[in-house]
Amino acid sequence: MAATGGDALLMASCWAAAVLAAAASLNTSPVPFQAGYMPLFGGDNLVRSPNGRSVRLKLDARTGSGFVSKSAYHHGYFSASIKLPDDHTAGVVVAFYLSNGDVFPHNHDEVDFELLGNRHGHEWRVQTNVYGNGSTTRGREERYLLPFDPTLRHHAYAISWTPTVIVFYIDKKPIREVVRVASMGGDFPSKPMSVYATIWDGSSWATDGGRYKVDYAHAPFVAEFSNFVLSGCPLGHGEFLGGRRSSEGAGCDVAVMTAEFAVRTPAKRAAMRRFRRRNILYTVCHDLYRYNGTVFPECDDTDGTEREDFHKWGESKRVSPSRRGYTTQQQEGRADGNDAAGGRPSTWPVGSLRAD
Ligand SMILES: *[C@@H]1O[C@H](CO)[C@@H](O)[C@H](O)[C@H]1NC(C)=O
Ligand SMILES: *[C@@H]1O[C@H](CO)[C@@H](O)[C@H](O)[C@H]1NC(C)=O
Repeated sequence: MAATGGDALLMASCWAAAVLAAAASLNTSPVPFQAGYMPLFGGDNLVRSPNGRSVRLKLDARTGSGFVSKSAYHHGYFSASIKLPDDHTAGVVVAFYLSNGDVFPHNHDEVDFELLGNRHGHEWRVQTNVYGNGSTTRGREERYLLPFDPTLRHHAYAISWTPTVIVFYIDKKPIREVVRVASMGGDFPSKPMSVYATIWDGSSWATDGGRYKVDYAHAPFVAEFSNFVLSGCPLGHGEFLGGRRSSEGAGCDVAVMTAEFAVRTPAKRAAMRRFRRRNILYTVCHDLYRYNGTVFPECDDTDGTEREDFHKWGESKRVSPSRRGYTTQQQEGRADGNDAAGGRPSTWPVGSLRAD
């Protein structure tokens, strides 16, 4: 491609103008529920606060509930603050996720936070999954303990999705990044997705592989959502799902890729490594069995330092749920010196959250 100096200059300035235009439109402030979302299912089990800035999702013996963004987005940063139901919540699943399963039933994309309830006195766990173009047999699962009690107050769970990297955040700290590498092919989510939040009965798998079911004597289970941030590139008119991007859309991609939430700094990566050392329970990157020794190309442990911390079935040697209680806000979780045997669990939560 031979562009003259003038062409290149013109292209550069158009590009800069597009970036500025899009950057101006990236709104990182929380919006009222009504501005970004609408109810998805569950009827009156979805309850809006009087000021419209927060919503309760309930699960009872009749139904769970959920909401969905009014727009689909092609990349962006999506955050909600969530306070989880307390007491006995075995089998209860609260999910905050991106998906296009309703539009692409056979080759959907999906990026999940799944918060998995537990028995009284046991901790909630968080699972993250990434699916691309229908890769439903490869969920790229990871699971973590939380360094706080998620039932006491709201904490922010956020997904940053750009054309090159997905970052999961909890309280603005990155906990996982999935960097797009060419050999992932379609496994990296690439089609526009909507944002969902749901509460539902995951009795068949959520707690210890389905051993503990939802006990409706403790219902209703109520999760509170607030601080809705939808800082993304909504599909414009004339941009059909999976269709051609407009120049505005391409400019928005650049704005998203250069936004604070998407830029990975050494300080943020160090914080991520700290979180993972202290809180990760399981990662697909070190599981040699579940996928028959498949090595996921984006798993980056080139110096092999993380490998030593994991059993061959992907469980952490350092972090053990049975021996660890919540710590205070000031004092972060301390899981060192914990050499629990960590037996191989019989079943893992699998399967995407497609709302169908
Ligand atoms: C995604 O899936 C569709 C349908 O199965 C296929 O035609 C397409 O090539 C896939 N795209 C990528 C990037 O793998
Ligand atoms: C792993 O291999 C077994 C036996 O060959 C097969 O039944 C199973 O489907 C494979 N699992 C995956 C995830 O490829």
